[in-house]
Amino acid sequence: MALLFRSSVDSAARWRGELTRLTAELDIRLWPDIGDPAEIEYALVWRPEPGLLASLPNLKLILSLGAGVDHILCDPHLPGGVPIVRLVDPYLNDAMGEYVALQVLRLHRQDLDYLAQQRSGIWRELPQKNACDRPVGILGFGEIGQNAGRKLAALGFPVAGWGRRRRTVSGFQTYAGPEGLCQLLRRSEILVCLLPLTPDTEGILCARNFAALPPGASLVNVGRGGHLVEEDLIPALDRGQLSAAALDVFREEPLPPGHPFWRHPRILVTPHIAGITNPKTAAPIILDSIRRFEAGRPLLNEVDPAQGY
Ligand SMILES: NC(=O)c1ccc[n+]([C@@H]2O[C@H](COP(=O)([O-])OP(=O)(O)OC[C@H]3O[C@@H](n4cnc5c(N)ncnc54)[C@H](OP(=O)(O)O)[C@@H]3O)[C@@H](O)[C@H]2O)c1
Repeated sequence: MALLFRSSVDSAARWRGELTRLTAELDIRLWPDIGDPAEIEYALVWRPEPGLLASLPNLKLILSLGAGVDHILCDPHLPGGVPIVRLVDPYLNDAMGEYVALQVLRLHRQDLDYLAQQRSGIWRELPQKNACDRPVGILGFGEIGQNAGRKLAALGFPVAGWGRRRRTVSGFQTYAGPEGLCQLLRRSEILVCLLPLTPDTEGILCARNFAALPPGASLVNVGRGGHLVEEDLIPALDRGQLSAAALDVFREEPLPPGHPFWRHPRILVTPHIAGITNPKTAAPIILDSIRRFEAGRPLLNEVDPAQGY
């Protein structure tokens, strides 16, 4: 079984090492040395070049190296009818939950203000709310959103989640659809975006939705850069409509050197590191998908291309 590995960010050597440790059955081809394209049945990819997957005539299954699949579905030449599986790794979900908890705590405990005070040598206590008085709203209440929600709830924050379909999630207030979005925004002093990027969710972090949040609310974007209308953020921060934003994902990555987000005093920037795929825990999950496919068993976490996630 030949598997193509293509990623510009994940270590090909580590992935080859982990997969080879688990099985001798896979013939792993590292892009661009892929040999005969007709021999490749599986593709394990992150942001594959447009047209690469279509150039593999006998491709049976596409495996995403991340939880999101926008990097695959954006390929205009994506071969139809080839199933796509996204990565759902409990360790990755936990890492994402950690990152969200970290940023929510920083925003809640006014870390940016205390850092600015430290730089100016100012010793001053700021008024501080309790966590139970700081409602957090999570856009995208799936695998990662719920993991983050549980961590935040354990810290005492009242957490609500928003999805496409109404779900009952024990211990959480949930909302769905456009009306549910308005209700969630109205109550969220900290808004966390953990949505997949789809035509329906693109640009959801925009001036109109910022205006629906309580004044001085803050934002954590760990979904995708395309969720944020970048030109709406700085005006909302400068007006005080939003008080701060923690951003891990950007429309252009790496964030260009002159981009105003780098230096804005109310923006925290991290380089798309909230959840880093770890081959040690992810390789057995990838192999399980291949084995399920080979055995004709139902795939787990198969993507619905019509919904975009
Ligand atoms: N920054 C990073 O390092 C990093 C790492 C991993 C993942 N991510 C991002 O996190 C995203 C979420 O991952 P996941 O594993 O939690 O995905 P998931 O389990 O598929 O959950 C997605 C959630 O988004 C909701 N949703 C999708 N389209 C919607 C719409 N149009 N309106 C309202 N809700 C909608 C879904 O609603 P339903 O419940 O109704 O289906 C679901 O609750 C990924 O797609 C990726 O963009 C970022």
